[in-house]
Amino acid sequence: MSNTNGFEKLMHLANAYRQAKVFLVACDLDIFSCLSEAPKTAAQLAAKIKAPTEGLELLLNALVALELLKKENDLYHNAEISQTYLCKNRANYRGHIIKHMHQCWYSWDHLAEAVKGGRQAVNFRRNFLVEDEKANRDFIWGMNDVGYDRALEISKKLDLSKTKHMLDLGGGAATYSIAFAKKFKNLKSTALDLPLTLKVACENIKLNNMDERIDTKEGDFFDAEFGSGYDLVWISQILHAYSKSRCINLFKKSYRALEAGGKIIIHDFYINEDKTAPLDSTLFAVHMMVGTEGGGLYSAVELSEWLAQAGFDKIKWDKVTPGTMLIEGCKP
Ligand SMILES: C[S@@+](CC[C@H](N)C(=O)[O-])C[C@H]1O[C@@H](n2cnc3c(N)ncnc32)[C@H](O)[C@@H]1O
Repeated sequence: MSNTNGFEKLMHLANAYRQAKVFLVACDLDIFSCLSEAPKTAAQLAAKIKAPTEGLELLLNALVALELLKKENDLYHNAEISQTYLCKNRANYRGHIIKHMHQCWYSWDHLAEAVKGGRQAVNFRRNFLVEDEKANRDFIWGMNDVGYDRALEISKKLDLSKTKHMLDLGGGAATYSIAFAKKFKNLKSTALDLPLTLKVACENIKLNNMDERIDTKEGDFFDAEFGSGYDLVWISQILHAYSKSRCINLFKKSYRALEAGGKIIIHDFYINEDKTAPLDSTLFAVHMMVGTEGGGLYSAVELSEWLAQAGFDKIKWDKVTPGTMLIEGCKP
């Protein structure tokens, strides 16, 4: 019996990609948005997305089994979770990050090559942040989808009441700048990021009426001057995409940009010291191997050592969730 259970676990693992692919393709085809106003038959949906009915019906039936759709008298409806998060133009739409994940599928297809030949063996879409506006928008709005609730949670954990000017390094959609500025009325923030990303950041800043409190600085953070006079450098979900030497470089540049007594705070994935847990972080480390030139997941101990090398003291860290952490250091 235990053998059967063990084997079932293996089959479940081997088949997991089928569920993911059905869901990802359904999001790409915008099936859920097509059903947001009214239920439809497979033929009606097929006409809408300009596809033959046969294959689509199989996909729809699998989505019913995955509990993302319901089927009643040949009519397909969105399940509540799909109606809430997967319909474009609805307030809670979170489809950008899912589309981004599907774009990463290509890199994962080359996992064996990356393991056997080194990550340089894979022809990555490394420059999508700079070159491909559609992919950039899905990624950056997607980061906002993922970060929105987390930013509110962290803004309750941190006391930034005395912080005056924060540098949001690689600020993305300015998600954290916005959440922190809303909570702490004295705070101004400068979001430094690449040009395409800043288009999204500016839209989000405007949407949140934060133009007066948040400004932007365009540049590649490895080349650009950070400026000076900051009392906080905030680095959220950046370091895992870069190598150790590049992370230390960012810490040294942050140190120079801070006033004495200023802080650096890092928000990133948590991984334990022997890099075997939690599961999502170990998988994300693989994701970085197939998707970036030098990225990886770093333990709190490693990041603390690198912060100390850059000159920071009073270094401490804490988990935010089982898979994420905050690490801070102070410029003496
Ligand atoms: C994973 S996102 C994190 C966004 C944001 N900090 C957050 O936590 O929501 C990485 C961000 O770093 C920016 N980025 C990556 N490499 C960069 C570089 N070399 N110079 C400036 N920004 C960069 C990307 O454009 C993107 O906004």
